[in-house]
Amino acid sequence: MAQAKILIADDDILVREAVYKILTMFGHTVVSCASGEEALAALACDFDLIILDINMPGLDGFETLKRINDCNYGIPVIFLTGAGSMEYAVKAINLGAYDFIPKPIEDLDIFNIKVKRAIEKRKYVLQEKVYKENLESEVRSKTRELAKKNRLLEEYNEDLEVSTLNTMLTLQTALEEKDMYTAGHTNRVTFHAMNIAKALHLTEKEMTVLERACKVHDIGKLVIDVNYIRKPGPLSDEEWLLMKKHPEIGANIITPLAFMQEEIFIVRHHHERLDGKGYPDALGGSDLNLLTKIITVADSFDAMTSMRSYKKNMEPLTAIAELHRCAGSQFDPEVVRVFVEVLDSQI
Ligand SMILES: [Fe+2]
Repeated sequence: MAQAKILIADDDILVREAVYKILTMFGHTVVSCASGEEALAALACDFDLIILDINMPGLDGFETLKRINDCNYGIPVIFLTGAGSMEYAVKAINLGAYDFIPKPIEDLDIFNIKVKRAIEKRKYVLQEKVYKENLESEVRSKTRELAKKNRLLEEYNEDLEVSTLNTMLTLQTALEEKDMYTAGHTNRVTFHAMNIAKALHLTEKEMTVLERACKVHDIGKLVIDVNYIRKPGPLSDEEWLLMKKHPEIGANIITPLAFMQEEIFIVRHHHERLDGKGYPDALGGSDLNLLTKIITVADSFDAMTSMRSYKKNMEPLTAIAELHRCAGSQFDPEVVRVFVEVLDSQI
């Protein structure tokens, strides 16, 4: 049997010394105490077994056991019970004692077996504790590892999203740069729309969606014959019909991109009007969300103030007057009000 560290408490010096001798004879290390108080003072988590007398002056065995239990060390306790006191033995077990040994100790083999069994129980409890701690530590480590992998995956996803968006923006910018009249349009629309969004205190998520939508709002023009865009003079009815398809085409282009699902609506409806007379679906009023209403105002303002091949650009003040005139019919009045405030602060 492996050597164990045992705490004994008995006020009877004869019993105490007899138990001490037996246990040390079996190779155990023994700390011997004359009372419950002394035993509690000597108690430490590295004991493998506690042997307690029941009747002791001061703290009796039961009270001492309660306080030992409060420490939660999981050390098994064996009670020493006088002959015929079965009632005490039952009470001790009910209080959480591991076993009891009648005294005087007459059968050394039984004593030894009971002590050995209690020590094995302690060994098992400690092994279980170590196993549980190792398991918890392993779970924590795996959770950390998983969180790290998730972070890497998220970063990779973000990189992929940014790269895709940048590629589309490059294509759109290339298209705009071919035509001196539209050069820089997307960047200016994004700039105006983000200023309105900030003034309206939109959330970070809404700002991200709006910015992405702005960057690709005219991406549908990529598949329309650029000669129309660059054509001097006004477009014919047929050319206009084709040009008016660009919001739908743009929405279709970004539909396969899983991270752009919220932007699809904005791109498709950036030429709708509040009064429902816009295109492609003649949506109006509350059918249009705030982000779409913002891009509509920003887009129209830039279209009015940029030089077009077939008409001269408007002065900012004239364009602002036009925004006011169309507030409530084409544009959302609150968005116009906020945008004009932003523009005023920039002049
Ligand atoms: Fe457009």
